[in-house]
Amino acid sequence: MSSSKTPSSTLTPPALKPLKLNSSGLGKAAKPTTSKPGTSKLTPPKLNFALSGSKPTGSSKLATPKLSFSLGGEATKPVLKTDVKPTTWSPATTSLVLVKRELETHDSLSFTFAAADQTLFDFKPGQFVTLAVDIDDKTHYRAYSISSVPQQKQLRLTIKRVPDGLVSNWLADNLAIGDNLSALNIAGQFNSSDCQHKAKLLLVSAGCGITPVMSIAKTLLAQDSDADIEFLHCARDKDNVIFHAEMQTLIAQHSNFKVQLLLENSDAFASFSSEKNSTALAHQTGMVSKDVIQQLYSDLQDRTIFLCGPVGFMKAVENIAQESDFDMANFFQESFTPAADNKQQDDLSLDASKVSAASTASVMLYVPDFALEKEVAQGSSLLELLENNGVPIIGACRAGVCGSCKCKVTSGEVKSTSSETLTAAEIEQGFVLACSSTVEGDVTVALS
Ligand code: FES
Repeated sequence: MSSSKTPSSTLTPPALKPLKLNSSGLGKAAKPTTSKPGTSKLTPPKLNFALSGSKPTGSSKLATPKLSFSLGGEATKPVLKTDVKPTTWSPATTSLVLVKRELETHDSLSFTFAAADQTLFDFKPGQFVTLAVDIDDKTHYRAYSISSVPQQKQLRLTIKRVPDGLVSNWLADNLAIGDNLSALNIAGQFNSSDCQHKAKLLLVSAGCGITPVMSIAKTLLAQDSDADIEFLHCARDKDNVIFHAEMQTLIAQHSNFKVQLLLENSDAFASFSSEKNSTALAHQTGMVSKDVIQQLYSDLQDRTIFLCGPVGFMKAVENIAQESDFDMANFFQESFTPAADNKQQDDLSLDASKVSAASTASVMLYVPDFALEKEVAQGSSLLELLENNGVPIIGACRAGVCGSCKCKVTSGEVKSTSSETLTAAEIEQGFVLACSSTVEGDVTVALS
């Protein structure tokens, strides 16, 4: 969901830090350092993004139970194998191999990958992975949410086509069984390992926002958790419900898992109701509202909410929670939907000259490591300037949440709208997120 120019071969890349994957205790609730009610502000993980060729040194110790996992909606049952310590998949050295494609709806697909070395995928339920996709001799970076459970030999990404979206459509149209893809890292603060949650949860999603939430639900259920999980999913109609069959299977297998669909299209609701399928998901027509939430979840205050979906939808749910006097310390939301909302990024990769020049005034951009000295428009996006001038920076989410575009301003002035993944010490040292920064004066930048 982002784009970046392929690093120029005439440039000498700086020494890149080794890539370190996250290792987590499944379902263990680490205490979030939430400073702002209403959002899942957590202590950011340190993310080191590396281009191919860098050597990983951070092999994570697995502290999680091993889970058996079968695709296609079958049960996920935990199998404890405390005597086995498989190695952890390292995206810096092992590519992904596509082993399965599944059509979820008319415009969304699940891609299941295996690691070439058959190691286990280590991530926290709710996180996303950054892919590097080569299209027409150019590498594009996109972050996609993971819809499978951790500690499996397979990793499933569910991707929705985006109108005019370069990478999502390319993957849907071209990626075939046996194809290889490079991945850069697994990251994301919206996850059920870091977000401290109660035993009762309300998972809320809309559209492709169901992807990370499904990973959370399946992981908790696979642990035979005592969790009481209510899942509210909103979609245009029944044909646009991703994971419909999989949710039916999970409901049949877990009495502590309940799904409620909220469908905008009442015609679809009628045809849905007339279906003979006795395991049809509970559903009603309408939009999300305070009345609907209060009618469905009388014990709302006892639950932790995990929310993911389009921005407007999330804002509506957040407002409902606040109006319902919900304790926002128990409210976590994904601030973007990696797989769904990448049109803007695709547009950028289609038109790399689309530098947002906010002013006709000029300032100087210096990047000494790449012998770059250039007069640029004041107010321009720092990420776009670096990309368009051959600096090998990775902009995976382009939304200030993944940390891949971290760079250091060694002198000068930028204006930043997000520092979400940066620590206080990094901010003090001058690190910024290039995707969320504009140059406001002469500025000197380093990648590390
Ligand atoms: S590209 Fe993800 S934080 Fe900037």
